[in-house]
Amino acid sequence: MTDATRELRGRFTHVTGREPDGVWSAPGRVNLIGEHTDYNQGFVLPFAIDRRTTVAAGLRTDGVIRVASTFDDTPAEWRLTEIDAARIDGQLTGWSAYPLGVAWALGRNGAELASVPGVDLVIDSTVPVGAGLSSSAAIESAVAVALNELWGLNLPRPTLAQVGQLAENDVVGAPTGIMDQSASLLGEADSAVFLDCRSLETAVVPLGLAGAGLSILVIDARVSHSHATGGYADRRASCEAGAVAMGVTSLRDLDVTDLDRAHDMLDDVTFRRVRHVITENQRVLDTVRVLRKDGPTAIGPLLDASHRSMRDDFEISTPELDLAVDTARAHGAIGARMTGGGFGGAAIALIPNALLLEVELAVQDAFAKRRFSGPMAFTVTPSRAATRDDIDPIEHAAATA
Ligand code: GLA
Repeated sequence: MTDATRELRGRFTHVTGREPDGVWSAPGRVNLIGEHTDYNQGFVLPFAIDRRTTVAAGLRTDGVIRVASTFDDTPAEWRLTEIDAARIDGQLTGWSAYPLGVAWALGRNGAELASVPGVDLVIDSTVPVGAGLSSSAAIESAVAVALNELWGLNLPRPTLAQVGQLAENDVVGAPTGIMDQSASLLGEADSAVFLDCRSLETAVVPLGLAGAGLSILVIDARVSHSHATGGYADRRASCEAGAVAMGVTSLRDLDVTDLDRAHDMLDDVTFRRVRHVITENQRVLDTVRVLRKDGPTAIGPLLDASHRSMRDDFEISTPELDLAVDTARAHGAIGARMTGGGFGGAAIALIPNALLLEVELAVQDAFAKRRFSGPMAFTVTPSRAATRDDIDPIEHAAATA
């Protein structure tokens, strides 16, 4: 057990007066490539990062769910059977909507909320909020694995990813896809997760960053974004309109050979939105192929092309993210792109270890010259998916087999 796990157990005992039944954690994610393709039933290639949300959980006997956290003094408390009405009345707001939403969404996937025991949850997180690293999926996935085990549901991880997405869509109110929860629940060390968002088939794709002497630097531009109110929903609507105009169920049904036809049939803005999705799907497939054949040093041009497409066609980048990407490239990054939903958040740069410091200093300097606040830059390591943290993994596997 790590010090952080022990500390959260202590915190749980302080808040509830008893020991937790267990501690679980789930990572945030970086999307290596494949942006705004998930809700178009396309391809994505994210990886889980070494920043995690941890939840200490203990059953109650009264059908109440109570969620507390280290980042907010006020706990939220509901009867499990009342969450649905509270959701419909729009009473579930703020960070607690994520764990409460997961409990509700488990109710839509086999949990009998009228008969499962209540639960106390105490949550802590090292995933930065608003940086496009899916702090929300990390909460959802940590709570999902905790309740799945405590309530004896035995739901497979792909279903838990759908539970997290349902919570986000129908409780939090953000029309997001399935990528973030899939990365958080299926990631592996030094690897990315390829996900076909139509079939929901996945494959673990080794990245080999350490072996190639490469790091991924996250450059958080510290410009906040909100999926629920921002341009995310607007981009999703454009994609859906583009698919209807092209006579297909989703943009996944189109590929680069359809671009000329799309150009003739769509207005300029819709065409550029559609072109981003079509070409981005192709770039994900190309990235997997290049990673397997030539390794991570060869994927730079694909990352760069992805950023240009988001900047010029999908128009979800910001001046801060463009500056971060351009500066990183000018100082030795092999490739760089904004990552996540856009309209703020972070960029990632793939950098030879020897040039990390130079790139970091150059970005700080460029931001200062333009009088942009921030940025916050830190490296991330592709890491393992959601886990139980307070017992030995082998004992745990044997107990849950
Ligand atoms: C956010 C959403 C994801 C995905 C990305 C864009 O992170 O939560 O589902 O759509 O934006 O690729």
